[in-house]
Amino acid sequence: MADGLEEIYINFQKELGQIKDLKSLNDFEIKYLGRKGELTKILRNLSKLSIEERKVQGVKANDLKIKMEEIISEKKNELQADAYKDIEKTEKIDITIPSKERIGHVHPISKIRMELEEVFRSMGFMILDGPELESDFYNFEALNIPEHHPARDAQDTFYIEDDPEWLLRTHTSPVQVRAMQKYGAPLRAIVPGRVFRNEATDASHEHTFYQIEGLLIDEDISIANLIAVMKELLQGIFKRDVEVRLRPGYFPFVEPGFEMDIKCLICGGKGCSVCKHTGWVELLPCGLVHPKVLEYGGIDSRKYNGFAFGLGLNRLVMMNYGIDDIRYFMSGDLRFLEQF
Ligand code: PHE
Repeated sequence: MADGLEEIYINFQKELGQIKDLKSLNDFEIKYLGRKGELTKILRNLSKLSIEERKVQGVKANDLKIKMEEIISEKKNELQADAYKDIEKTEKIDITIPSKERIGHVHPISKIRMELEEVFRSMGFMILDGPELESDFYNFEALNIPEHHPARDAQDTFYIEDDPEWLLRTHTSPVQVRAMQKYGAPLRAIVPGRVFRNEATDASHEHTFYQIEGLLIDEDISIANLIAVMKELLQGIFKRDVEVRLRPGYFPFVEPGFEMDIKCLICGGKGCSVCKHTGWVELLPCGLVHPKVLEYGGIDSRKYNGFAFGLGLNRLVMMNYGIDDIRYFMSGDLRFLEQF
């Protein structure tokens, strides 16, 4: 095991010397520190050791992880500085010259968002927004995710330095309770917005992405209502038949909770990088609003109930246009953007 760590570090150093650009540095980072990375594998296997061994090896492995992270971040800064130098030479453009060719247009994410807003408006939903810098209370507490709840770990939160009470919202759900407090029941609202998670990026993960939260509160709302609205939504977007499936899903703020998956439209269900070779894409976590959340929102849970969903907008857009890498959205790359 100790050898394992040393060997990893030796290889790490060796390979690092050969890295000359940011793209390979990113692959390199994933190889060592990513979800399936060399070091992550060792950290995962710690649980198989005896308690004493685990203590010693755990500290060593963590120290190494920190060290590797620092080295990578230094290298990243170096390469970035180099890259900017080159950009000046190769991509210099005079932004003061008026252009006839490049007329700005709507980003594919905005385009689909606006179409969805229309679908929901026609069903009587309000369109709300909420703060991206959010409090621990709305992002977690009021959604029935108390301190130390394991669901917090799954959210890879970016906290504000020196103040763990404030964070970048990890989902649009905090606006559920904000909307309840402001408008009361009955209520129909959707909340399109940007959310943030501190995770390693790859073809299907970004640190910054878009969701549309949906919330409907009224008397006697059932899962049948939820499914009807979801169907309307998918038809509105894809304008074609899509196969869906509903699986039980766990979110502390809904009960019961579900995951709605759609058959991957990129590969038609055969398996590709977007659907992680399963043929299905997780698109719509949803469920009936937990009574505790209604109470936090100041709504009488004996009289009212409702459903909520959290649509992953990036994935939906990827499915719709056949985009196989989520990182294009934030790239600002005109070769990508001009296709829409
Ligand atoms: N907020 C959840 C997430 O981002 C998704 C969700 C929303 C689930 C609403 C159920 C109901 O992970």
